Amino acid sequence: MTPHHPIGVFDSGVGGLTVLKEIRRELPAEDLLYVADSGHAPYGDKSPLQIEARAVALTEFLIGQGAKAVVVACNTATGAAARLLRSRYPVPIIAMEPAVKPAVALTRSGVIGVLATRATLASHSFGALLARVGAATAAQVLLQPCPGLVERIEAGDLDGDFTRALLADYLRPLLARGADSIVLGCTHYPYLRPLIVEVAGTGVAVLDSGAAVARQVRRRLESSGLLAPAGCHGTERFWTSAHPAAGQELVSRLWQTRVTLEPLPAGWPADSLAIAAGRAT
Ligand code: DGL
Repeated sequence: MTPHHPIGVFDSGVGGLTVLKEIRRELPAEDLLYVADSGHAPYGDKSPLQIEARAVALTEFLIGQGAKAVVVACNTATGAAARLLRSRYPVPIIAMEPAVKPAVALTRSGVIGVLATRATLASHSFGALLARVGAATAAQVLLQPCPGLVERIEAGDLDGDFTRALLADYLRPLLARGADSIVLGCTHYPYLRPLIVEVAGTGVAVLDSGAAVARQVRRRLESSGLLAPAGCHGTERFWTSAHPAAGQELVSRLWQTRVTLEPLPAGWPADSLAIAAGRAT
């Protein structure tokens, strides 16, 4: 593996583009590979084993494409699979952590709301994060699963009436209980930031962890001697597990540049369960 190899990034769909954008900002010289697993989104209502299977398949794909590091740009996949991926692959695996710690440092009301998928909130790693943070603080952390929101974003509906109403239903109970900091525990949700501010008002802080993860990617590459030489001009390549024609417009819109979305190689998604099943042997 050399500094000239690319960084691989994946998510259940287009949400990880919010993290990819921060990685591009932090590391302009790096070549970036992105897989949107939109053919299998949402992950949030799947079992841990199903999510793990997808995470393994996509990590294998990215490593097969020469990735020198893999970023799990999905909180749900982090909760289900980050430990397994780290134990299994020799490349640095960088994963998500909802911004609960910064929210605790910021809150004045002492009440924090976390929006995330059901699977993330139920995961061992999220529970461990709360236990670590809880040990150091008296803040009250309110957990709000948000079924349906990822589907709205995958459909490209970032500001329609239905998305607004769904989001308001999830936010209002948190605001009514005094939350003054909202943690976005899903990488899709930063696309809803304008709507969140509209519903919650500008006095409420909205935190995501994309920039922190991008800094962590830099640190891991630096410490492994894998950082691309300054002065290179990084490129991006995008794949999807859904039909590329269906995602092309949305990915281009969210990336704010016309991109070519490639299909994952035939058979790849179908192989994923077999790959994950192999872990037990
Ligand atoms: N972006 C994923 C996350 O961060 C969305 C999960 C889903 O597909 O439900 O959790």
